[in-house]
Amino acid sequence: MAIRNVVQAGDEILRKKCFEVTVFDEKLWQLLDDMKETVRKEEGAGLAAPQVGILRRAVVVDVKEGFYELINPVITEAKGEQRGYEGCLSVRGKRGVVSRPLVVKAEYSDRNGKRKKLVARGFFARAVCHELDHLDGILYTDRAERVETVKD
Ligand code: CO
Repeated sequence: MAIRNVVQAGDEILRKKCFEVTVFDEKLWQLLDDMKETVRKEEGAGLAAPQVGILRRAVVVDVKEGFYELINPVITEAKGEQRGYEGCLSVRGKRGVVSRPLVVKAEYSDRNGKRKKLVARGFFARAVCHELDHLDGILYTDRAERVETVKD
């Protein structure tokens, strides 16, 4: 496993639409392992492949419900609304208030290509929506009511 460099806002790669994962091989597993190690080290709630320079539809989400690897994820249902702060490892030193669904249902593949489902609520739902946006080149700052500078 290795820590990967997190691409910062302003880099074009964060604005591109990612490709579906079609091969579930050791290269993908290495990417997922590295993303997990990186998000843990950076103390983030999630990380998407384009943030480490890979244009593939893969994200990791690290929340109290668990440490999820979501490959080719799709939101199938979204309900309710929540407003709250978000940050991003690609937008250092900032946070913003973003409106997201309160509950989302999603389908995704695991690292072996097996299709699975999840239901996420609250912060978990927020993290899933935020990471899935990255796969389509969207940053939370595009959706935020306001963005603030945070002191470290
Ligand atoms: Co982000």
